[in-house]
Amino acid sequence: MSNIIQQLEEKRARARLGGGQKRIDAQHAKGKLTARERIEILLDKDSFEEWDEFVEHRCHDFGMQDTTIPGDGVVTGHGTINGRLVFIFSQDFTVFGGSLSEAHAEKICKIMDQAIKVGAPVIGINDSGGARIQEGIASLGGYAEVFQRNVMASGVVPQISLIMGPCAGGAVYSPAITDFIFMVQDSSYMFVTGPNVVKTVTHETVTAEELGGANTHASKSGVADGAFENDIEMLLMARNFFDFLPSNNKQLPPTRPFDDPAEREIRSLDTLVPDNPNLPYDMHEVIGKIVDENHFFETKAAFAKNIITGFCRIQGSTVGIVANQPMVLAGCLDIDASMKAARFIRFCDAFNIPILTFVDVPGFMPGTDQEYGGIIKHGAKLLYAYAECTVPKITIITRKAYGGAYDVMASKHLRGDINFCWPSAEIAVMGPKGAVEIIFREDTADPEKIEQRTQEYRKKFANPFIAGSRGYVDDVILPRETRSRVSRSLNMLKNKSLTNPWRKHGNLPL
Ligand code: HXC
Repeated sequence: MSNIIQQLEEKRARARLGGGQKRIDAQHAKGKLTARERIEILLDKDSFEEWDEFVEHRCHDFGMQDTTIPGDGVVTGHGTINGRLVFIFSQDFTVFGGSLSEAHAEKICKIMDQAIKVGAPVIGINDSGGARIQEGIASLGGYAEVFQRNVMASGVVPQISLIMGPCAGGAVYSPAITDFIFMVQDSSYMFVTGPNVVKTVTHETVTAEELGGANTHASKSGVADGAFENDIEMLLMARNFFDFLPSNNKQLPPTRPFDDPAEREIRSLDTLVPDNPNLPYDMHEVIGKIVDENHFFETKAAFAKNIITGFCRIQGSTVGIVANQPMVLAGCLDIDASMKAARFIRFCDAFNIPILTFVDVPGFMPGTDQEYGGIIKHGAKLLYAYAECTVPKITIITRKAYGGAYDVMASKHLRGDINFCWPSAEIAVMGPKGAVEIIFREDTADPEKIEQRTQEYRKKFANPFIAGSRGYVDDVILPRETRSRVSRSLNMLKNKSLTNPWRKHGNLPL
């Protein structure tokens, strides 16, 4: 017995040393933590239950039979974050560059299967050179097994990817299917093909950072939901973020104690919207003032800034926020903004998170770039997401709600539960100037006449009362009352029950 215990201890020690001290030092020298150090920060103290610590690869080619390391380059298991169960895998770059073998993939699949069975989120820490080259096709098969589980888990349990090193080639498609991707600046990158292949095929010279670094994906491609300065910041933010989410699609997100009265008046909001409709204001200010304790976790903050998405709490419960941002492109909806918001809304709907929408939108973005890029189908994604969604939907129109964009932004017609307007709301088929130039085309040569017609149009339509007279808005509220009216509406909607007709699945305009 003592012999086997000693063997166990030796094996454990070997597994815990991963690829050895030299490689651990190299990992630290790059400013990166090891797979186990990351788990320690992410999970509650002493909560980690490791699985498959002794699993080894089964490869006999290229001398691999002589180089087995227990655990095979990924640490897997479960633990808790602020007391809630989570399954985790953390790739160990010190072992064969964190590359994915058949056995490594099986370990990931095992925790994913269990997470789906018990209804708990999965967090994957990616730090890997991709498919284990020595294993060839067995490794490709392993990736596909992981992809299949990512798809089966989608909309069932939240899946979060933390990219904390390389993630390249087909390997990127596992994180891409997960709900949220966060990256670390300067030490993580994601691309389908690396700089060398790019150079050969397209003759472009580009660094790994430019091609697929954290800033590229957080601001240009929109692949990442956030970029953090270092491993520690990212892991602590991931803990914070996790608290907004439910464990699975049958549960509500956890509620947190709050020290912020639901009926709090916010007088400064009464003067936030400028009198001149062409002047912007910062929608972040509206959000920050309305949510509990000014705490807003923004997702994709640096991408498609003309729309804001993220999580907050109101009376301690998670709410998803979608808001046009008049500071950027006047808050127009373009391709990127539509896709960003649509995906966010679908996440909230899948996971029982009410959606609070702030509207100040002059319309969809015009131009050949947008039309050639397919704004028709991408804009339709946003419309589809709002229309399909059955969670509580509360909409506040702060100023402009013009044209198709009015319809799309959680209007009553798309089963919005509550639509409130501020007195500054302008709801019309289009902006006054554009409307006048079309319906009074004969006057276009006379700027004075056009100005007069514009003023007439503005007076008649640029207000909330025509929509109000048709019941398209439920009430015109003072901006200062917004938090209390939203809080009461959320309470009223707590037991909302709405289902869509049976279907295998809809056909989202992809
Ligand atoms: C086996 C690998 C490996 C891999 C790295 N290593 N990638 N072993 N399979 N894919 C090993 C290295 O041999 C090295 O071992 C150790 O990991 C650390 O790698 P280094 O190159 O020393 O590290 P670094 O300089 O930081 O470079 C990291 C890297 C580079 C950029 C990731 O290793 C690299 O380019 N690797 C290959 C990437 C790749 O082409 N992967 C296959 C992609 S195809 P020693 O013993 O020397 O320390 C793919 C298909 C997936 O992934 C398809 C899914 C559908």
